[in-house]
Amino acid sequence: MIKKAITVVIVLLIIHFILKFLHGLDLFKHVYNHTPGPCRIVPGQGIGYEDMETLPNGLTLITSGLVIPTTSPTVCEYRKKHNGKGRIYLFDFNKPEKGIEELTIVGDQFNQSDFGPHGISLYKWKDQDKVTVMVVNHGSTGDTIEKFLFIAKDKQLKHVHTYRDPSIHFVNDVAMDSENSFYFTNSAYSRNQLLSVLEISIPLAYANLIYYDGRAYHKQYDGFVLINGLILSHDQKYLYTGETIPQRFHTFTRQKNGTLSRYQEFNAKTALDNPTLDKDGNVLVGSHPILWQLMAHLDNPETPASSQVIKLHMKDGVVTKMTEVFSDNGHTLYGSSVASLYKDAMLVGTVYHKLMYCEVRYID
Ligand SMILES: *[C@@H]1O[C@H](CO)[C@@H](O)[C@H](O)[C@H]1NC(C)=O
Ligand SMILES: *[C@@H]1O[C@H](CO)[C@@H](O)[C@H](O)[C@H]1NC(C)=O
Repeated sequence: MIKKAITVVIVLLIIHFILKFLHGLDLFKHVYNHTPGPCRIVPGQGIGYEDMETLPNGLTLITSGLVIPTTSPTVCEYRKKHNGKGRIYLFDFNKPEKGIEELTIVGDQFNQSDFGPHGISLYKWKDQDKVTVMVVNHGSTGDTIEKFLFIAKDKQLKHVHTYRDPSIHFVNDVAMDSENSFYFTNSAYSRNQLLSVLEISIPLAYANLIYYDGRAYHKQYDGFVLINGLILSHDQKYLYTGETIPQRFHTFTRQKNGTLSRYQEFNAKTALDNPTLDKDGNVLVGSHPILWQLMAHLDNPETPASSQVIKLHMKDGVVTKMTEVFSDNGHTLYGSSVASLYKDAMLVGTVYHKLMYCEVRYID
């Protein structure tokens, strides 16, 4: 009798695990298409425009040529075939017809042929024109965070410093709160492709969120399965980040010394990638509405995956409403990872695919 009961419980647990797993992959979800106005692909030779950030004057810096440590051989071939390499592009929202332009990187300490850019953060110095840029780099000797000065008139990035530390392990994104202090997310632990699939399937929660205060690295929170991009609110009172698995958005309150406290957890029901802010402080997130498509796309970039941009309406660090700004079933734009809004226009970037520019006629 007891044996029978135990068997039933085990079978139910297995069924529960399988259903949860399939549900988590968005197996039963469907995506429709809509845009906020006319959209077009921005011509360019980059493969992927994974992350971006826009300055108050409309200049936007975009990372391209992502190679994650767990990249499949198919992705490496795709990269070779398309002459893929690490680049930072510039886009000016005031002159959208000019398209994108590659920034020149200068500095002897920086090896450009070993550049695998991922997340990006911009910090505009108070009362000055100076802009510091930080970029997550998956290099051949491990992950680093690279610091540059953006010289707009020369279309240059001047390399300033490389941050290297055991806690900079498998970094996804960075968010500066001053020119020498920043938050970053380690999106997983395992840097091996097979083990990383196991890590997120079981799932083990080895991802974390760390703060560097200019002197030392302080772990803020851990126990995430796959934490992704992050950004600070305009007033730096809050830090926002999204998890790709499970599909949750987090708000943290930030103290003056950088320490974070959990504030709100919002179930977005879509796999979140990178957040940006609009001028009113609302959060735009490039996201992946159907996770299994993203998985297939990450394995082979020629496989389409649907795209989505959501807007999280924020009030005092709390999500009050979520609306969808853009949605594509994967026929036009594969795997959207970020979006940036400036006046009446929006750019949407992708992990391994193209860059899209949309006129924004209506946004809720
Ligand atoms: C730069 O990186 C490439 C690719 O990893 C490597 O082959 C080369 O030796 C590096 N150069 C220097 C000066 O470290
Ligand atoms: C930051 O300040 C809070 C109190 O405001 C304190 O509890 C915490 O220990 C401080 N953290 C560090 C790293 O100094």
